[in-house]
Amino acid sequence: MAEVELKGIRKELGGNAILRGIDLAVADGELLVLVGPSGCGKTTLLRLVAGLEELSGGEIWIGGRRVDALPPAERDVAMVFQSYALYPHMTVRENMAFGLTLKKLPRVEIDRRVEETAALLELGALLDRRPRQLSGGQRQRVAMGRAIVRRPQVFLFDEPLSNLDAALRHQVRLELGKLHRQLGSTMIYVTHDQVEAMTLADRMALLRAGELMQAGPPLELYEQPRNRFVGGFLGAPPMSFLAATARVDGAGGGRCRAEGRGFSLELPGSFELHDGREIWLGVRPEDLALAPVAPEGRLLRGSVDAVEILGWEAHVELRVGDGTVTARAEAARLGALRPGAPLSLEVRTEGLRIFERSAEGGGAEPALAAAGKGARAHVG
Ligand SMILES: Nc1ncnc2c1ncn2[C@@H]1O[C@H](COP(=O)(O)OP(=O)(O)OP(=O)(O)O)[C@@H](O)[C@H]1O
Ligand SMILES: [Mg+2]
Repeated sequence: MAEVELKGIRKELGGNAILRGIDLAVADGELLVLVGPSGCGKTTLLRLVAGLEELSGGEIWIGGRRVDALPPAERDVAMVFQSYALYPHMTVRENMAFGLTLKKLPRVEIDRRVEETAALLELGALLDRRPRQLSGGQRQRVAMGRAIVRRPQVFLFDEPLSNLDAALRHQVRLELGKLHRQLGSTMIYVTHDQVEAMTLADRMALLRAGELMQAGPPLELYEQPRNRFVGGFLGAPPMSFLAATARVDGAGGGRCRAEGRGFSLELPGSFELHDGREIWLGVRPEDLALAPVAPEGRLLRGSVDAVEILGWEAHVELRVGDGTVTARAEAARLGALRPGAPLSLEVRTEGLRIFERSAEGGGAEPALAAAGKGARAHVG
């Protein structure tokens, strides 16, 4: 069993608080994907778990054993870096065997593990080559192989696919998912790629400036963002936000609307809002549809800011009052839509998310209520 428990992890570097008290548990055999903007502390967190950095506060437990005072070699973790860091003068076989040779494992055991792992990663035919004779994807698999032969309790991956082109990324991502199922080991995986994060993760953890914003199954973060930052981080394109004021008609159980500059949208009944409350309206691109006619209360009117055609799909930015929203649409249905043109979008209001709007929120204003779209629990 190798669950990883991070308790109150703090890290200061050069007088700056890099990690500000992270509490996070990764279950045995779970693949946890760590995401967050550049500089939020992802690599630092992995390096702390690996033992390459010292904690400023908190505890790290692996498999029920406190490890934060142990040297890296005694923690039984393997880290795969973004730069594969292979030894250029060694063959693939020697690169993969290196760590085991240092551990003074018997030669036959080393050979067996290397052969097995090479087969798993389809590197069998490349064992006698040197890194410069390999493609990027092959090098990446060797780096992974070097970690796997050690059979660690925990794998740490720091953006292992970021140097690969899109096609190879896709292929290696699928292999990685398979590998995780075969090995059944605990993995913490850092990526900037949302598709990678959504598809690989059993659970996902989102960091922002050294703090944990939310952790849970990927869809839970997507559908029930705990705050505005989480909503705005996930999704490509991400959620758009419109500043609005809640309007409640009549007394008790009245209908709720969100009014802002240039729009007035009906809100589904389940929001508990009082009249005059300042809110952010979170709108997902898939909840906006091109619709010349739609019922008032579900309509956003504005002018086109930008159109991006990606193939089948297109993204349309619409300026509404002093805000913008992004819609996802079928490119073929756009016609000759040009920036500046007037456009109306129908809002699937059941998909709206509502966040507090206050000066103190700093972008991470809490969600006010859960409604519609797979709502499971009250978000608090
Ligand atoms: N040796 C150091 N001294 C001072 N600050 C550091 C040091 N190393 C990293 N930092 C700072 O710590 C913060 C977190 O860095 P880290 O590399 O963990 O971010 P990250 O989330 O991995 O970012 P990226 O997505 O760009 O890889 C950054 O603000 C960085 O500038
Ligand atoms: Mg990093």
